[in-house]
Amino acid sequence: MALVTSTEMFKKAYEGGYAIGAFNVNNMEIIQGIIEAAKAEKSALILQVSAGARKYASPIYLKKLVEAAVQDSGLDIVLHLDHGENFEICKQCVDDGFTSVMIDASHLPFEENIRVTKEVVEYAHAHGVVVEAELGRLAGVEDAVNVSEKDASFTDPDQAVEFVERTGIDSLAIAIGTSHGAYKFKGEPRLDFERLDIITKKLPGFPLVLHGASSVLPEFVELCNKYGGEIPGAQGVPEDMLRKAAKSGVCKINIDTDLRLAMTAAIRKHFVEHPGDFDPRKYLGPAREAIKGMVQHKIRNVLGSSNTSL
Ligand code: G3H
Ligand code: 13P
Ligand code: ZN
Repeated sequence: MALVTSTEMFKKAYEGGYAIGAFNVNNMEIIQGIIEAAKAEKSALILQVSAGARKYASPIYLKKLVEAAVQDSGLDIVLHLDHGENFEICKQCVDDGFTSVMIDASHLPFEENIRVTKEVVEYAHAHGVVVEAELGRLAGVEDAVNVSEKDASFTDPDQAVEFVERTGIDSLAIAIGTSHGAYKFKGEPRLDFERLDIITKKLPGFPLVLHGASSVLPEFVELCNKYGGEIPGAQGVPEDMLRKAAKSGVCKINIDTDLRLAMTAAIRKHFVEHPGDFDPRKYLGPAREAIKGMVQHKIRNVLGSSNTSL
């Protein structure tokens, strides 16, 4: 049991045709819910921390909670920086003991993206840390990640090959139609599997990453709607599409919004049913259970990573 890099996990996932879930963490209940699920499924696991999460919880708390999770669970876990926007934050996380960082310079022109990514790779690799980078841009709005539809663009397969060769990264996040948040498609959900197929063929054996991969399951949207404010028009990536991607070189699938929905639905339900409660444990307990249920479902039915812990 330890904090590990994703190198071995991705190798096994690629060969086995499954993906590792990378779940965003912001507080203790979220971490515990995810850990309970991974433990029950004996699954390989990536816990990822965004800049927004670091700001919310303060870096030291999240790091110590993840260390506690490793000790308590006996699992090997990757601690990953999600969407590091510059060299500085990546360096900080490497220095803080993360085992994986993402440099997201996908908003910069190609050559600039390469330059910044290479700088992070040099520093991270010198410290035994692996690097994910992004080429192409996902649409979507979250706390620290905000890209309008008109600024989004799919990954060019030839550029992907050049990018991987010139930067020396360990995994590549690609844009094939997913987006961040709860509003992913206006009409019929569609991912560009042809593009994924070409990228996989041009980069055989190389681990690809899918961001914006929540499925925004209707039953959770309905629960949120039933017990509180409406989330009209929410739509996610159908789970069968994620299973298909996991069989085609996608080794890491990022999930945050589905955890947010599960947690929020549980808390809203609790307060509708017990309006007089004011002990946080009374509503954070069910929220933690809801996270566990969601993650266990993903591991078993979507990612296919049960019984893969190292
Ligand atoms: O892709 C972004 C993650 O879902 C994290 O979102 O920046 O609101 O923490 P955040
Ligand atoms: P979702 O918003 O679809 O959960 O995506 C999360 C993500 O990509 C984190 O990097
Ligand atoms: Zn993302």
